Amino acid sequence: MKFSEIVRTYKERGLPEREALLLIGKVLGKRKEYVIAHYDEECPDEQLDSIIHLFEKRLTGYPLQYIVGEVEFYGRLFYIEEGVLIPRWETEGLVDLSLEYIRKYKLRKVLDIGVGSGVIAVTIALECATNKELSTLGVKVLGTDVNEKAIRLAKKNAERYGISCEFRLGSYAEPFRKEWDSIELVVSNPPYVRNNAKLQKELDFEPKEALFAGEDGLDFYREFFNRYDISGKIVIMEIGEDQGEKLISLTGGKILKDLAGKDRYLVIEPRD
Ligand SMILES: C[S@@+](CC[C@H](N)C(=O)[O-])C[C@H]1O[C@@H](n2cnc3c(N)ncnc32)[C@H](O)[C@@H]1O
Repeated sequence: MKFSEIVRTYKERGLPEREALLLIGKVLGKRKEYVIAHYDEECPDEQLDSIIHLFEKRLTGYPLQYIVGEVEFYGRLFYIEEGVLIPRWETEGLVDLSLEYIRKYKLRKVLDIGVGSGVIAVTIALECATNKELSTLGVKVLGTDVNEKAIRLAKKNAERYGISCEFRLGSYAEPFRKEWDSIELVVSNPPYVRNNAKLQKELDFEPKEALFAGEDGLDFYREFFNRYDISGKIVIMEIGEDQGEKLISLTGGKILKDLAGKDRYLVIEPRD
């Protein structure tokens, strides 16, 4: 069977051609451009089974990013694995806001709670290290997660870009309790989905503890703001689009919108 015939068959079953090319490339260990250049050649028998297996898996809704093992965030590629949340585009806004506040207040120590694959922490560290103005600050980025696999992956992503961040396993800021007073910015994209929410099919394959946060999806925020004294710190957190009002009354912070015009970020600045 030719590569082009396999792709056509699966295109008819709903698999986009671009994805099919990426998946064939994954099996062959080549880029998709190679697959395009050899489109009308016969697929070797020993690889056909693996390709069909991946195509069938993808058609169940299994995320493409987990199959290819990479995801794009803020213009860079990061490793991603099953068991760790796939970063979403809205979260890039959390990085933009963090950089804006780091610049504005010359912040030097940042804690990312719930690092997942490490995209927020690593991107902040990289942007600070490579930006002329910010690099003079010597920003240090710390991160925590309750998921051991996430901590391992975040370290791997920091290594990929040769940037030093300190990631520790544990809940909220507990692994950095001793450093709490010196942390100036807390950033987080926490779990914020209601336990009984109906989700898209692809989310079935993502870790539940990265998504769900109680009956109203606010458990993470409630516990954090109950447990920690944030006076003097800036806190920037991603939120669900319908959680703004409740979080304003819970924290007194302000809500900013994402690029789609939806309430998405909670910002708390120190009051004088
Ligand atoms: C929505 S994911 C965000 C992952 C990553 N920051 C991103 O934006 O792609 C939330 C992450 O928080 C972690 N998490 C959940 N509860 C936590 C807690 N109490 N302390 C630290 N991390 C927690 C989960 O394991 C998960 O990796």
